[in-house]
This record gives sequence, structure tokens and C-alpha cells, in this order.
Amino acid sequence: MAVRVGFIGTGGIAGAHRRALAQIANAQMVAFCDTDETRAQTAAAEHGGQAYTDYRAMLSDAALDAVYICLPPFAHGEYEDAVIDAGLPFFIEKPIDIDLARAERTAARVAERGLITGVGYHWRHMDCVDWLQQEIGGAPIGLALGYWLGGTPGVWWWRKWETSGGQMVEQTTHVIDLARYFLGEVKSVYASYAYYRMAEKMEGLDVSDAGTATLTFASGAVAQISTSCALERAGQVGLELHYGGSVATIDGNSATIRGGAYDEPARRENQTNPTVVEDQFFIDAVDGSGSPELIRSPYADALKSLRVSLAMNDSARTGAVIEL
Ligand SMILES: NC(=O)c1ccc[n+]([C@@H]2O[C@H](COP(=O)([O-])OP(=O)(O)OC[C@H]3O[C@@H](n4cnc5c(N)ncnc54)[C@H](O)[C@@H]3O)[C@@H](O)[C@H]2O)c1
Repeated sequence: MAVRVGFIGTGGIAGAHRRALAQIANAQMVAFCDTDETRAQTAAAEHGGQAYTDYRAMLSDAALDAVYICLPPFAHGEYEDAVIDAGLPFFIEKPIDIDLARAERTAARVAERGLITGVGYHWRHMDCVDWLQQEIGGAPIGLALGYWLGGTPGVWWWRKWETSGGQMVEQTTHVIDLARYFLGEVKSVYASYAYYRMAEKMEGLDVSDAGTATLTFASGAVAQISTSCALERAGQVGLELHYGGSVATIDGNSATIRGGAYDEPARRENQTNPTVVEDQFFIDAVDGSGSPELIRSPYADALKSLRVSLAMNDSARTGAVIEL
């Protein structure tokens, strides 16, 4: 029997998961909840499920096996509580929250109930990342350079610290998380942010335009992660890893290795859609046909990436080095 999935939040990223789940044979989308009724109805009409504006009604009526929580960063807490109370596994989009204490509480409740969770850090599921891991083998990585340089997303909640957490927490979190995936745990964080375009850009925006952070890792490695949301019609997203005599660069679609054993750059493009892969692993873990261990970003691990990005915000605000 297919896993009966309900959505809380049916906006932009929910669309990506809907398209992915539509390709997954053992998943069935049956319920869609959004405070915007039209969005919930549009999704329900497309996939043949029921639309809701009240998540409590959905959780009690829809006989769900799993929930996709695709809400803006500020809108967390009560939804996770209700889903956990219902004993349901859930997949949640990054960033898992912007309130660290609330996310820690959610993580503790998930652990207490032994629930399967997945988080939308889909870069971990890119097959070029698998290739790179094999290429690096056990070689120590000494340096990582990460960047998420782009513009300001159009959704209203993105523009304010209190609703999005700013660029390090909201988008650059993918790069931070991937750095953790390769380099292990972060020991300390020092960050500085710059404000130079916000007044001219859009009304009501209060997040910083750019920032940079220095990280040290328990392994002894160091990293520099930079971010911008001030660009227009330009941008670059990626993570560079320095190991042995080589440098590897991962962007959203491919990985390239230069130097070391290679005379010419070696490049691998993704052959699979990482959103489909992460969703398939989650659904298989829920119906028991796959192992939860294949989920590369469970909630407890994503909490560690959240800690790093929120520490960047704290460091930029206070000027202090934050020890994690
Ligand atoms: N993994 C990725 O690459 C990726 C890409 C885009 C967005 N995201 C993440 O997904 C999350 C959502 O982003 P989005 O782009 O889909 O935003 P969005 O604004 O397009 O969609 C959010 C939806 O949630 C609904 N909503 C808001 N508050 C609600 C509430 N209290 N109860 C029920 N529904 C509510 C909104 O009406 C909207 O339809 C963000 O955390 C974002 O960072 C991840």
C-alpha cells in the first residue's frame, strides 16, 4: 500500500516535492493544507486529494502515514508538535526553524517518539556528491570555500530577520550543511555582515545584504563561507573543497576536480534529481521497504546546521567568536 502523504504548506518548494512524489510509486498525495485556500485547492485538484485550511482537521481526518511540512522559516513549532503528537513521520524543509530553543525541543520530541524524519538538504543527495566522496576517500580536507551569492527571493517573509533569519540561515544553509557533510562538526564561528543596498532595494527589507564567516572544524579544517542577496541578474552558488593537492568544486548540478591526479579537470554532472532521491529514501523508510539510515539529513542532523547559521547571526551581531 502506498504511503499516504499530507502537506502543510503548498507554496513554492511544496511544488517541487509534489512533482517528485508524483514520480514515486509507493507515495500517494492525499491531503493539502495551506492558510491560502486557493493554493491548497489547486494542489488537491492536481493530485486528487482533499484541501484543508486547518492542519488539525487534516491530521485527524486524512488517515495520513507521513506529513511534508513546507512552511516559511518563522512558521514552525505548533505544526511539528501536532504532527509528533499524531505519531507521524515528517519531511520538513530547511531551515527547520529560526528559533533554536524551539528546534531543540522538536528534536527532543522526535527522538522520544522515535519518529522518522527527513530535511530538504537535497545537495547531500546529489550523485555528483557521491562521486566526490569516493574520489576524496579518506583524505583529510583542509579548507572549504562556500558561497551563496544571489538576489533577494520574492516571497514576502524573506526580507526580515524575524521571518526568514537572513541569508545565511535561509539559503546559504545549503552550503553550510554540505560543508558539515564533508568536513564534520563545526567548532567555532566568527561572522561579519554588510548593509549597502537594502534601502534602495525594497521597502521593509531589514536583512543584511552580504556577509562572510570563518569556521573552524573539530577535524582541524577551516572554512570561509560568504553570502549575498544584493545581486541582480548575477550569482554563484557552490562549495570548494581542498584536499591533498586537489580542489573540488560542487555547484547545484555538478562537481569538478582540478589538480592532484588529474591533468585536466574531471567533471561529473548529476544524472538524477536529488529531490526525487531524498523523497524516495524518506517514503521507503516510512513504508519499511528502505532503511531510515539512507536519509542523509534527519531532523537531529539538520539542527546542527541550524546552530551554525544562527551562530553566524549572533557573531555578526555581537562581534564575538561563538564556540559551538
Ligand atoms: N530545499 C530547497 O532548495 C528549497 C527551495 C525553496 C524553498 N525552500 C524552503 O521551503 C520553505 C518554504 O519556502 P517556499 O518557497 O515554499 O515559500 P512559499 O511562501 O512559496 O510557501 C509557503 C506556503 O506556506 C503557507 N503558509 C504560511 N504560513 C502558514 C501557516 N501558518 N499554516 C499553513 N500554511 C502556511 C503559505 O500560504 C505558502 O503557500 C522555506 O523554509 C524555504 O527555505 C527550500
